[in-house]
Amino acid sequence: MARAYEVEEHLYDVVIVGAGGAGMRAALGMAAAGLRTAYITKVAPTRSHTVAAQGGMAASLGNMSDGDNWHYHMYDTVKGSDWLGDQDAIEFMCREAPAAVLELEHFGVPFSRTAYGRIYQRPFGGQTLEYGSRIAQRTCAAADRTGHAILHTLYQRCLELRTEFFVEYVALDLLMDDEGACRGLIAWNLETGTLHRFRAHRTVLATGGYGRAYVSCTAAHTCTGDGNAMVLRANLPLEDMEFTQFHPTGIYGSGCLITEGARGEGGFLTNSEGERFMERYAPTARDLAGRHVVCRAMTLEINEGRGCGPQKDHIHLHLEHLGSSLLHERLPGIIETARIFGGVDVTREPIPVLPTVHYNMGGVPTNLHGEVVTLHDGDPESVVPGLMAIGEAACVSVHGANRLGSNSLLDIIVFGRAAASRAVAAVAPGDRHAPVPGIATERALDRFDRLRLSSGQTHVGTVRLAMQRAMQRHCAVFRDGPLLLEGAAKLRQIDETLRSDLRLTDRSLLFNTELVEALELDNMMAQSVVSLTSALARTESRGSHAREDHPDRDDQRWLKHSYCWLDKDGTTRLDYRPVHLEPLSFDTRPIPLGKRVY
Ligand code: FUM
Repeated sequence: MARAYEVEEHLYDVVIVGAGGAGMRAALGMAAAGLRTAYITKVAPTRSHTVAAQGGMAASLGNMSDGDNWHYHMYDTVKGSDWLGDQDAIEFMCREAPAAVLELEHFGVPFSRTAYGRIYQRPFGGQTLEYGSRIAQRTCAAADRTGHAILHTLYQRCLELRTEFFVEYVALDLLMDDEGACRGLIAWNLETGTLHRFRAHRTVLATGGYGRAYVSCTAAHTCTGDGNAMVLRANLPLEDMEFTQFHPTGIYGSGCLITEGARGEGGFLTNSEGERFMERYAPTARDLAGRHVVCRAMTLEINEGRGCGPQKDHIHLHLEHLGSSLLHERLPGIIETARIFGGVDVTREPIPVLPTVHYNMGGVPTNLHGEVVTLHDGDPESVVPGLMAIGEAACVSVHGANRLGSNSLLDIIVFGRAAASRAVAAVAPGDRHAPVPGIATERALDRFDRLRLSSGQTHVGTVRLAMQRAMQRHCAVFRDGPLLLEGAAKLRQIDETLRSDLRLTDRSLLFNTELVEALELDNMMAQSVVSLTSALARTESRGSHAREDHPDRDDQRWLKHSYCWLDKDGTTRLDYRPVHLEPLSFDTRPIPLGKRVY
């Protein structure tokens, strides 16, 4: 039976959802400028998924590659994105990168060091000097626990600035007013079972990706894209959802990440014949080609019968030749992860690996200040008042059709900081709050109750696994029209089960993890539907989106970003916006369209 909830009211200047690196970097800037900032997070802040980032953060410091500069970084990023990335945003990110790393260093991030005491930088896929001529070493690393080091340092700074954390609060929905402005959000406190309305002048979504929509991913169980789904429910679109990145080296079986830094330090892949097959697919960059190039090569090797192991269904990653001392110094986390999740001693034997879902290039459309944009009155980049998004939840778009490794830690810091500057410029501490229509709260609670009181036959775990399997099978590295169509039909059925036959056995409000999982499943389902729809529509291959029935990139028809809306009844609508091919500064030359070969 539905109940009338008491909703506790909170007034803040800014509310941030998600306590990863993007949210924390934004919070720092806002709190430092005197904005009253609330932090809503469903996990303890230091358990946010940024903690799992291993290899590092790209910036053209040039500590290990003489002559590196942001122009080369920008070129690599545009090429990595298969020209779908917006060149103004990419210029902004690459220019800001060195300052962002040095700022973190001054905050106290314990970066690894060179013999001369400079920040250590390792090679990562797709990074070059002189516009593709030579391999660059651009990724600033704290051994292979860079995200861990960054997240803990930012958390300490946030505590110092007395940012208010609301830990184990699950964000339910945005509070949108009749003019389409965001006035805050509604959240559920797991510990006390109470509901809370956070009113704010700016609501910042830093909720990460939705990797858990797949069976095998490097993402934490919490990566369910809650912010993205809230945006869809607010009748706003998500952008470029067809682009899901697979990381070449997830541990076979568990999907746990083995950092690209392992190949950066000299690791290499072999097939069942012991052949270093990447030499055939990417003669120059070999094992350090762009991620989807490596993933496609691995998949082809397996499909052509050259996979390793009794089932011939994985590839070997060799590190044993690097020697125990280098491995312990540069890749200590990998030694541990491979032992625990792969049962392998990397100093002696190869790690069995397989491409695994790693990153969502798509997300909430924003401008480069972190403001959410949508199509309104013919303007495809009309700002949604009061709403911002940063980090993996956002699509700025700096990654386009494919993100380069180590541009993600960079993205969260640069755009976290940019969002803070924008909010500080726009909001005066203590400004009066605009009213929120009651219907916004009612709608959020209706959904909450619909899931909490579900009394069908099918358990959350069953529906979730069906959805994950459908995504893994029908929206993977290689796709084609019939496969995607079949996937869309399957998803419709699974979605129907979720809507009409879900069964929750726990109706309580106190730490009801079954309900948390149901809410997260509902969120992932929405994103799965728009991902499949967007992938089906895009009849070309670009970056991570490899259509076997349309193997070529088609700039004539598809050099554009997709926007996908989802209606309440599960129907979708698509529209498109142009790619920004012009850089930010008048004296920066655009990177002309080219082939993505490595
Ligand atoms: O391989 C890695 O360490 C992952 C880094 C990234 O995705 O940026």
